[in-house]
Amino acid sequence: MTLLRSPIKQAILLSLFTAALSSTAAYAVEVNFVSGAVGKDIELFKKLVKPWEAKTGNTVKVVPMPSSTNDQFAQYRLWLSAGNADVDVYQTDVIWAPQLADQFVDLTEATKDVIKDHFPSIVESQTVDGKLVAMPLFTDAPALYYRKDLLEKYGASVPKTWEELTTTAKKVQEGERAAGNKDLWGFVWQGNAYEGLTCNALEWVKSFGGGQIVEADGNISINNPKAAAALDLAKSWVNTISPPGVLSYGEEEARGVWQTGNAVFMRNWPYAYGLGNEDDSKVKGKFDVTTLPTGGGHDKSAATLGGWNLAVSKYGKNQKEALDLVKFLASKETQKENALKGSKLPTIMSLYDDADIKEKQPIIPRWKDVFLQAVPRPSAPTKVKYNEVSSKFWSAVHETLSDEGTADENLEVLEADLTELKGKGW
Ligand code: GLC
Repeated sequence: MTLLRSPIKQAILLSLFTAALSSTAAYAVEVNFVSGAVGKDIELFKKLVKPWEAKTGNTVKVVPMPSSTNDQFAQYRLWLSAGNADVDVYQTDVIWAPQLADQFVDLTEATKDVIKDHFPSIVESQTVDGKLVAMPLFTDAPALYYRKDLLEKYGASVPKTWEELTTTAKKVQEGERAAGNKDLWGFVWQGNAYEGLTCNALEWVKSFGGGQIVEADGNISINNPKAAAALDLAKSWVNTISPPGVLSYGEEEARGVWQTGNAVFMRNWPYAYGLGNEDDSKVKGKFDVTTLPTGGGHDKSAATLGGWNLAVSKYGKNQKEALDLVKFLASKETQKENALKGSKLPTIMSLYDDADIKEKQPIIPRWKDVFLQAVPRPSAPTKVKYNEVSSKFWSAVHETLSDEGTADENLEVLEADLTELKGKGW
């Protein structure tokens, strides 16, 4: 009693009591995580973070963003330039590192124990002037999805060229429609005016031998006859083997048509592989994947390099916890879960030899070489101007596909626009 009667002693007791409490829950924070999503990404993410939440007592609030990467970019740029303290972790596209480098915490020191487990080329893509801007989460390289059952029915082989794909798609589409399968289309892809179209069109152009828009040395190469021939062929698909609506399709719209069994071919990223084989999918067990075709007599196919990373905001309130969460999400255990449940390509090299992954998602070991040889978009040579370069490119392509000017005309204007942009410095 004498103890409690003294106000000083009471205060000491109280502070001991609160210290005991705060060693766990009282210090717990809520980490805000912003991310775009396709398929069941958000549902999966909430499962993936559970062990981290249980271990640390912290919680993660995931704020879903639009699936279009350039819409996310526009929002993030606004938040970051306003120094938004409410967002702790950003999931970032592989092309953003040079543009947002100044806004994120340097992860070099904090990840030095684990970074060597990741593919050096991916780490390099996220390193700007010696600073590790974002931690690799998963990498991406597209596939040509095809219906094994339909190709077999029509005695067609898996196409190796875009020209062959065009003929086979037409043949199967016509045959199926005549047999009453009215909703079937030959080929679905991403034709909306956005970053996804830049990826698709870069593949057409590069696989025709028409270069990669802006070369690694900064040379603007896009205005050439091979690039124009590639775009001409793609234009011929619209409203023949591809639905007219393809000009507003992103990844999810294409997958929607494909997964309901209404397409012979689809161009999409590996995430669609796992979803296509789930129980609710009409194409479960009926499809396989191959590399994208070549074209115009050229003999090398091209896949655009994609991928997502995790960056810690310089302005976030919970940087310590954010960093710990990023390391957990990019760890071998979590990447394995992401591969098994979401068919995402790991950035950790050893996971390509993992037996469980090989059995559950065979696309993953098969896609190691595809992503290692994938073509980067010109974000390194064009640096802070990349988004403008890409949006000028996808606009020129979208106009061509929509019959607003020929490929030749639109590529000439594009070259002039890019030259002007370059003149102002990139
Ligand atoms: C995928 C790729 C990403 C790309 C986007 C385009 O999400 O991983 O790099 O920018 O598709 O839609």
